[in-house]
Amino acid sequence: MTSSIHTPNRRRFLLGTAGLVASAAAFRFPTPAIAQAVPLRVGFMLPYSGTFAKLGDFVDNGFRVQVERLGGQLGGRPVEFVKVDDESKPESATDNMNRLVGREKVDVVVGTVHSGVAMAMVKVARDTDTMLVIPNAGVNEATGPMCAPNIFRTSFSNWQVCHPMGKVVHDAGHRRVVTITWRYAAGDQMVGAFKEGFTDAGGEIVEELAVPFPEVEFQALITRIATLRPDAVFAFFAGGGAVKFVKDYAAAGLHGQIPLYGSGFLTDGTLEAQGAAAEGVQTTLHYADDLDNPANTQFLKVFKDKTGAVGDIYAVQGWDAAALIDVGLRATNGDWAARQETVAAMRSAKLDSPRGPLGFNKAGNPVQDIYLREVRNGRNTMVKVAEQAVNDPARGCRISA
Ligand code: PHB
Repeated sequence: MTSSIHTPNRRRFLLGTAGLVASAAAFRFPTPAIAQAVPLRVGFMLPYSGTFAKLGDFVDNGFRVQVERLGGQLGGRPVEFVKVDDESKPESATDNMNRLVGREKVDVVVGTVHSGVAMAMVKVARDTDTMLVIPNAGVNEATGPMCAPNIFRTSFSNWQVCHPMGKVVHDAGHRRVVTITWRYAAGDQMVGAFKEGFTDAGGEIVEELAVPFPEVEFQALITRIATLRPDAVFAFFAGGGAVKFVKDYAAAGLHGQIPLYGSGFLTDGTLEAQGAAAEGVQTTLHYADDLDNPANTQFLKVFKDKTGAVGDIYAVQGWDAAALIDVGLRATNGDWAARQETVAAMRSAKLDSPRGPLGFNKAGNPVQDIYLREVRNGRNTMVKVAEQAVNDPARGCRISA
């Protein structure tokens, strides 16, 4: 674990300050002036290694670039970062989260990418009442039965991005589809949501194929697809795995023969490495590279200027996570401990996101347009809005609206 900015011991500062004021009540409810002097401690729990390493880097950079754009502050407070590489390993997730919350005493955890890791983080966040902002992982439960006032997501639910694709594929005239994914929560839920939309529209899933996460030995399953000759294929892979799958699919001669669809992660942040193999692939996501709105134009420019890289969905989600925390802190003049006011402000936030206007449902999940995109000349180009203002049903969430 590394802390990129070292500051004097925050607890000592708070206690020392409290000693100067007259009552214990004043310590529990610090004045805005005191609150604003203390850096907000942000704990990044992200994959900085493994198949999702680039995704973690882009979330991290998107967040930091937004903080810089806001003058190096969130809600008027300086920010310090603590990082932990979660390696996309669910088995280490509880310990990693406990380190951030317990030893590092962060004010808010921002993470992660992998749905299985996120589930463990959600449990610790609930048990310790820690503020958690999820900048990618789509696990439905986080904003479903495990929802809590202190848990927010600036990304999507697995259901939300894939359900609209069922109708898209059926409307394109396809009736027999094979699905393929990594076998873990995100893959199961994304395929499940696609299947729900596709079979409700009248389509048939002829076979559901899967490999364990994070395996990338796709050859046997691609051969199986060639044998089954479905009308189309729906896939979930992301990061390094998505690069390999799309290239293997083309190398097997299926590109242009059996149309390939997926959730947008199949082609986001991956196109440079996929090259011609990705051309024509259609996906659904809450973002497209060419969205024509001022917030996206500004995001792409600032991100490029600061990092030299082209912003993608992962950077957008990090950027919006910082914007959401900023809204919460502003509402209380920097007093992050004024939890009820912070949460109320974040729940009702209206962010001017690069993806388009962004609001949140009662469970803290974005309500957002889902776009149909097609890879054209190396860009995820918007074809149309597949479905407007998609709201995850938040099944099992007991927060009242
Ligand atoms: C997930 O595990 O929820 C996940 C991982 C990578 C993505 C999208 C979702 O790109």
